[in-house]
Amino acid sequence: MKRVLSGIQPTSDSFHLGNYLGAVKQWVELQDGHDAFYCIVDLHALTVETDPALLRKRTLVSAAQLLALGISPEKSTLFVQSQVPQHNQLGWIMECMTGFGEASRMTQFKDKSSKAGADSARVGLFTYPMLQAADILLYQPHYVPVGEDQRQHIELTRDLAGRFNARYGQTFQIPEAYILKTAAKINDIQEPTAKMSKSSGSGAGVIEIMDTPEANLKKIKSAVTDAGREVKFDVVEKPGISNLLTIHSALSGRTISDLENEFAGKGYGDFKTAVAEVVVEYLRPIRAKAVELLEDEKHLLDILHQGSAKARVVAQETVNATYKNLGVVL
Ligand code: TYM
Repeated sequence: MKRVLSGIQPTSDSFHLGNYLGAVKQWVELQDGHDAFYCIVDLHALTVETDPALLRKRTLVSAAQLLALGISPEKSTLFVQSQVPQHNQLGWIMECMTGFGEASRMTQFKDKSSKAGADSARVGLFTYPMLQAADILLYQPHYVPVGEDQRQHIELTRDLAGRFNARYGQTFQIPEAYILKTAAKINDIQEPTAKMSKSSGSGAGVIEIMDTPEANLKKIKSAVTDAGREVKFDVVEKPGISNLLTIHSALSGRTISDLENEFAGKGYGDFKTAVAEVVVEYLRPIRAKAVELLEDEKHLLDILHQGSAKARVVAQETVNATYKNLGVVL
């Protein structure tokens, strides 16, 4: 069975629709027929200022959401990054394999550090992609299901794995990014040319899984639309409508052209009402399930501890092989 690995940061009280459609939906599909490892990357969350009570809460909320969205602990290994110290061990090796200039070219680092200001950005933000490379390579996966914004990090991971293998002998599987064409980038529904993101300004354009159905209904009904009145997929001329078509299609399973036909001759208002219904009804049972799971913290922790124990075994094998090939005395 081919292996799959991916990760998600616990940096918010809720995942958003971009996280789900760009990544987690594929995680759920891939757990059938693959040996799947999914990680809540809490160490990555430390690259920005965090409140201890919030980090804990958000790690548990992340686990509850992943389970509610369909990750099954019987099929997948669901674990917390900090409970597998091998991530830090291999992270250091990856830092030692990476050029300073190479790391400086990571676009997420450039964006985030320019927002924070070069002096207040943390060194951890700079070395973040090397820790991510370690997250991946430890598990020797074939595929890494992510959204488009992670493509460059996966490319770096592939480069580092290839470099290490060439220099020290075959050690790492070279992983492939698994990025869907259709939902690789879900946009903010208030600012449809920008990515839907946890850190976006007001949050009015971000559909959150843990939001109430009423709040999400209101948000979608106030989504920004475009000039004209035709419901047509055209990313350049109609970024707002195209984004809503993508969301509807991904959740309802209907094709974009089928939706265009249904709404031919109808206005944007009718279309937004339909999108709102699809989203709200899809998320309603998921939010309810996550809320229920959060009531039993011990059960959640048991699942995570079991997952982390399984992950440590696999991760240690890779650390051993890496150290051996590096000439570290074992
Ligand atoms: P994170 O936590 O920001 O996002 C988790 C996943 O959601 C995807 N995503 C989106 N997809 C489509 N449209 C959007 N608007 C959107 N916003 C987010 C992301 O591409 C990602 O797949 N660096 C990673 C976490 C990470 C990781 C890893 C991923 C750490 N180690 C190892 C894979 C493998 C991140 O910050 O994702």
